[in-house]
Amino acid sequence: MAYETREMKNLFQIAPALLRWYASHARDLPWRIGPAARKAGEKPDPYRVWLSEIMLQQTTVATVAPRYAAFIDRWPTVEKMADAPLEDVLGQWAGLGYYARARNLHKCAVVVARTFDGKFPHTEEELKKLPGIGDYTAAAIAAIAFAAPAVVVDGNIERIVARLFAIETPPPAAKAEIKRRAAAIWPKNRSGDFAQALMDLGAAVCRPKSPLCGTCPIASACTAKGEGAPEAYPKRPAKTAKPHRRGAAFALFNAKGEMLFERRPDKGLLGGMLGLPGTAWTAQLAKNVFTHAPAKAKWKRVGDIAHTFTHFHLALDVYAAKAPKGFRRAQTQRWIKPEKAQVPTVMKKAVQLALKAPAAHGP
Ligand code: ADE
Repeated sequence: MAYETREMKNLFQIAPALLRWYASHARDLPWRIGPAARKAGEKPDPYRVWLSEIMLQQTTVATVAPRYAAFIDRWPTVEKMADAPLEDVLGQWAGLGYYARARNLHKCAVVVARTFDGKFPHTEEELKKLPGIGDYTAAAIAAIAFAAPAVVVDGNIERIVARLFAIETPPPAAKAEIKRRAAAIWPKNRSGDFAQALMDLGAAVCRPKSPLCGTCPIASACTAKGEGAPEAYPKRPAKTAKPHRRGAAFALFNAKGEMLFERRPDKGLLGGMLGLPGTAWTAQLAKNVFTHAPAKAKWKRVGDIAHTFTHFHLALDVYAAKAPKGFRRAQTQRWIKPEKAQVPTVMKKAVQLALKAPAAHGP
């Protein structure tokens, strides 16, 4: 839709201009009360706002949308989620990554349901005391669910502000400056709509690459655009290379075609999630990997998979075998049909590769 941009003489004109743009350009998102519905008096459900913000912490809108709907179908209220076993929440989360989020999601649901009578607190300060809620999420919930005048700064908003003010310091060192600059343009009213308008502007117009300044409702206020180099902001910090780690994972099949999974320890990477048994993931591959196998068996190396975590690259050797006669699983282990196992993406890759070893699971 064409949008007429206006010359801006001061910072106070930014919020009204962006909110006007939002009225006709807001994305239709499953957790959102859009500008029209809000004008008609519809109020957001804090539980849904909280759930969506936790899911969106490290994951894109496109990935979250269908997964959010499944969570809401299964647990329509915070009390329902609090009543569910942690394992069910972790299972529903499988594939979304950063699994501490799912553990904290459940923990937070329990606190809100049992200690706060099912009602989320309204202020950033109180929200921040809850599990899994940091500075950004507290501000987002306070603004979107409770219309508090909280200044919300996510990746999109950081980019827009860095461009508007041509901030020379690269993030994260520029965090305080970006927050201060954002506060200077933040409206007292419609704080939640303003935050979401910025998010939508960042996704559709003020994109990381090739920003569409010609359609931007606040282009005339943008210093980076004025300099003719919006893409040069935010400045990029020097990259540090990620280290490489190695490991081995073992896919043991029984006669029914089920695979042996075990629950990982609660603490640490992929804490509490199901996975294949195997070695630790370290810079050097463990000396005799088979001492970490779940059984003495005719292990065949099927190949290896690669997966990149936030802090390292992993190359995982995958072995497959049939369970030997008389094999008994340990208490932490379970036989599961591979296609039914709710496992993190790295394990999904290993499982799929193991299924390509017909000798292991064929007749
Ligand atoms: N990313 C994080 N929170 C969001 C929201 N409420 N709408 C769109 N994108 C988001």
